[in-house]
Amino acid sequence: MKAMPERRTTVLRIATEAPDAAVVATAAAALRAGRLVVFPTETVYGLGAHALDAGAVAAIFRAKGRPYTDPLIVHVAAADQLPQVAAAVPPVAARLAAAFWPGPLTLLLPRHAAVPAIVTAGRDTVAVRVPSHPVAHALLAAAGVPVAAPSANRFSRPSPTTAAHVLADLDGRVDLVLDAGPTAIGVESTIVDCTVSPPVVRRAGGVTLEALEAVTPGVTLAEGVAGLGEAQVAPGQLLRHYAPTATLTAYDGPLDLAVARVAREARHHTAAGARVGVLAPDEALAALAPELAAAAARGRIEVASLGPLAAPDAAARVLFARLRELDEAGVDVMLALGPAHHGLGRAVWDRLRRAAEGRVVRL
Ligand code: TXA
Ligand code: MG
Repeated sequence: MKAMPERRTTVLRIATEAPDAAVVATAAAALRAGRLVVFPTETVYGLGAHALDAGAVAAIFRAKGRPYTDPLIVHVAAADQLPQVAAAVPPVAARLAAAFWPGPLTLLLPRHAAVPAIVTAGRDTVAVRVPSHPVAHALLAAAGVPVAAPSANRFSRPSPTTAAHVLADLDGRVDLVLDAGPTAIGVESTIVDCTVSPPVVRRAGGVTLEALEAVTPGVTLAEGVAGLGEAQVAPGQLLRHYAPTATLTAYDGPLDLAVARVAREARHHTAAGARVGVLAPDEALAALAPELAAAAARGRIEVASLGPLAAPDAAARVLFARLRELDEAGVDVMLALGPAHHGLGRAVWDRLRRAAEGRVVRL
């Protein structure tokens, strides 16, 4: 049975370029009044609340069904607001901020006492980001307060890259949704821990490792990020984090081997009566098409494209939408091949590995 909605959710369309000032003012006033406002960023949609209002922040956790042990990212309009939320800004953080803000980078810094403990899950560090999306920027500037915002999905669902994804998860649980169409990057921000030296990437995301290395030689990936084992990752980076309803297994290796293996697995599962979703780059789908034609004709196969193999940024843009589509198609099993491992491919593989709860078969 569907629970009674706790809130009436209003959806307002807003243009990405030159956002309507009246809509921005309405959303900013709602944030200042302690309401929950979903807004687009260049990565994914965020579920925002006034970061210095502990009651408003608590409502984020309730709306998402998120455990209070998983800290939130604080969003500000510009780097000059850092002193409001961070107790110190190490030189390396200032350098990263100058290079990548506004943009898909989150910095872990010592927490300022003004930031309520609920935001940081009691930690003495705070995650801060300055998004580049014009709507996010306008909203943060108009609100004039730091805004805590996790991705605007229910806990353990894929992050939302459209307002439709947001409503599928949070209709009746938030006050306002600003709909500016699909987000440009599609995976969340890169999280860099600047409280250790040299800095450490705690989550692969919209800023690539290659780009970080150009500014901060010596930056490393934490274990558990992008396939480096399972130990020390950011607290919210549970393996269940992006788990779809169907059981997902990812296959990593040369295209011909991965295609042969996925074809075999798909035939095995469909013969056993299961419906199978195949998520893969175009080249893999083309090679698989003849192999799976018979099962597809029986309605046993759903395919979802991650774009060209050599374009990991295209895969990043559509990954979460494709996972949701396959889930909605009601498949029992998902078989996934990923893009190339460079650039945004690292973030895509990291999310695939989480969606697979670690089931990555290396060929
Ligand atoms: O692109 C993004 O980062 C999006 C948009 C909305 O900005 N936000 C986002 O938030 O992905 P969320 O809550 O889904 O993921 C943020 C992650 C948390 O799961 C947690 O692992 C990490 O950031 N985090 C936040 N504060 C932290 C802290 N003080 N120490 C370590 N990790 C932290
Ligand atoms: Mg999230």
